[in-house]
Amino acid sequence: NLGIINIPVYVHIVYSNSNQNISNAQVTSQINVLNQDFRKANSDLNLPSGSTFENDATDAGIEFTLAGTFRYANSNTAWGTNNAVKSAYPPITPNTHLNIWVAEIGGGILGYAQFPGGNSATDGVVISPQYFGTTGYVSAPFNKGRTGTHEVGHYLNLRHIWGDGRCRQDDFVVDTPSSDGPNYGCPTFPTVNCKTTDMTMNYMDYTDDACMYMFTDGQRNRMRALFNNGGARASLIG
Ligand code: ARG
Ligand code: ZN
Ligand code: CA
Repeated sequence: NLGIINIPVYVHIVYSNSNQNISNAQVTSQINVLNQDFRKANSDLNLPSGSTFENDATDAGIEFTLAGTFRYANSNTAWGTNNAVKSAYPPITPNTHLNIWVAEIGGGILGYAQFPGGNSATDGVVISPQYFGTTGYVSAPFNKGRTGTHEVGHYLNLRHIWGDGRCRQDDFVVDTPSSDGPNYGCPTFPTVNCKTTDMTMNYMDYTDDACMYMFTDGQRNRMRALFNNGGARASLIG
């Protein structure tokens, strides 16, 4: 029985202008969103009553503690998605800490993450500053910290809810319905693809921050399995 899992977090702020040098309050706002979303303590749960998903939101039992914030000025204005920012500013003890780089990726990309089991030199999550947290230099409709929740979901082994493929492509989670692709914006309920209602409100879809607000039991179990003895993220909790 793992109980509540606590993950210590290092945040690396890499900035080329003063906007990107986000405030400590903005950092705290993202940590707060993670703590709400992974504990089902978010106040925007809005599952249609009487719907198939009514009782499907779950408390993943994972919490996050800010362990340090690091700031680096750098004239690079777009870091891309090829881990360049991690080569410039390597992760600190990634075996025991989740490392998050807040750096402009460019191209309108919100964030990217590394799944468990990868190279420790590139382990962690990268998020562009305007999609990180809920206050300060943030940009609607991605100003509710859900890019952080989504990327940490990947870091904890969750796939996109549509499995990155057509209807029968698996996300390796039994209680998430299949779909044929991502949903965007704020879809009306029900949105039906692959003959079943899409769980567009799942953090691992591509909907707007305000329209995603849940993990399922299956996602919870998939994440928490990483922390069992010998699991790929067990070293995070010693
Ligand atoms: N596109 C990014 C990814 O696949 C993040 C999507 C996050 N969505 C959001 N509403 N914040 O990792
Ligand atoms: Zn994703
Ligand atoms: Ca599934």
